[in-house]
Amino acid sequence: MMSYKFPDGFLWGGATAANQLEGATRTDGKGWTTADTAQFIADPKKRMAQMLQPMTTKTVEAALNDTKGLYPKRYGIDFYHRYQEDIALFAEMGFKTFRLSISWARILPNGDEEVPNEAGLQFYENVIDELLKYNIEPLVTLSHYEFPLGLSFEQNGWQSRKTIDAFEHYARILFERFKGKVKYWISFNEMNIVMMTGYLSAGLLEDQLSADESLTQAQFTAMHHQLVAAAKATKALHEIDPAAQMGCMIARMENYADTPAPNDVLASVKSDQENFLMMDVLAKGSYPNYAWRLFAEKGAKIDQTKEDQQVLAENMTDFVSLSYYMSGIVGGDETAETSGNLLASKANPFLEKSEWDWQIDPVGLRITLNKMYDRYQKPIFIVENGLGAKDELTNELKVHDGYRINYLREHIEQIGESLQDGVDVMGYTPWGCIDLISASGNEMSKRYGFIYVDQDDVGKGTLNRYRKDSFDWYKKVIASNGQDL
Ligand code: BG6
Repeated sequence: MMSYKFPDGFLWGGATAANQLEGATRTDGKGWTTADTAQFIADPKKRMAQMLQPMTTKTVEAALNDTKGLYPKRYGIDFYHRYQEDIALFAEMGFKTFRLSISWARILPNGDEEVPNEAGLQFYENVIDELLKYNIEPLVTLSHYEFPLGLSFEQNGWQSRKTIDAFEHYARILFERFKGKVKYWISFNEMNIVMMTGYLSAGLLEDQLSADESLTQAQFTAMHHQLVAAAKATKALHEIDPAAQMGCMIARMENYADTPAPNDVLASVKSDQENFLMMDVLAKGSYPNYAWRLFAEKGAKIDQTKEDQQVLAENMTDFVSLSYYMSGIVGGDETAETSGNLLASKANPFLEKSEWDWQIDPVGLRITLNKMYDRYQKPIFIVENGLGAKDELTNELKVHDGYRINYLREHIEQIGESLQDGVDVMGYTPWGCIDLISASGNEMSKRYGFIYVDQDDVGKGTLNRYRKDSFDWYKKVIASNGQDL
């Protein structure tokens, strides 16, 4: 087996998001968010569709008033009350960093109050202090697939320019409070997904669009507003805490051409352009050359002011970050078998799939890292990667998840190869380091963690935590700085 040299100070850790693990959604003054309306649907075939389904004021209100449905993101895995026990387990594995997100509505319940909710701030301060106690660097996402519903009802979320100011205000509150404690921030989780899930990440409601506005146009408007907001947050961070760094993040989809036919290869190039669009803007300071044709092809317009252009040009991201789970295929036969869910593509005969049909492609990670470094020349933080699988807790309270170890080992090897290629990778935080609620399926049985949480899809279980086989393996990987895989 090859042995790889990871740099000193490489940030090994794990990643999570507030709405998928905290629970306590009505506790200590938190406001409702878009994640609170995500329901568990028993039929797996219908589960995924929900994430893409547009919402209206009526459907949101119906979900908030529904007393019969199951809304797992409201109870999570009760990290809100068990964070000390969980962080102790992360420390036992030797984590150097832990990725969490802050729920905007815990800090500003409606999204735009002048004065923050002290109980919300105090909760995150406790979590951050607990991490620092073990020398674990917090890596904090400002917005991860949840948006304060107050601002959806009032101004249709990110369709409104006013949301840029609200976000900047929220970000400044956090930077002031946590300066000197949090060195690494990410503005938006998987920001490119706003083009698909306007409700979840941008709080868009279909009934609030005027007759001449399409949902597609609203998603592009939201995208532009989020880009300006990310640049403004970067500016604020650099003013308030010059030692801290801001990253931007996309869900990276490495899409290969189906055949060597030039049009298939072109489709792959265009897929990259669409996938990298937002990162190009934040890492290079302006919309890229191909953007205008892409907007025209989508029938969308961007209302960019002089001030927007200046803010984007002057406040570029410090590092780039990505989630990477799988690769896909574009071009060729449109009727071919597909694979994956949200980012579904054609099936690749050379790759195996996970139980959820995601194509497993470690070499694709190396390809992607090389492409990204060539494109941006900025440090890359891999802030999500991992295998969603069904685990079994044995009678001896063990979980033998060799399949997860294999997946992670093969991906870490490719990070090692990328380092040898000269790519600057600063850290690696596998997704859902502790089992949590799935983002797309709102289910518990799709597990990613090193730590097993005893809870099922309908919220039953003791919530006890158990170390899986991968827990001991990852501990060894971190202790040897990637040498012992
Ligand atoms: C990423 C998200 O898309 O993938 C996470 O940022 C999510 O929030 C993760 O949980 C895995 O997706 P899923 O649907 O399997 O939970």
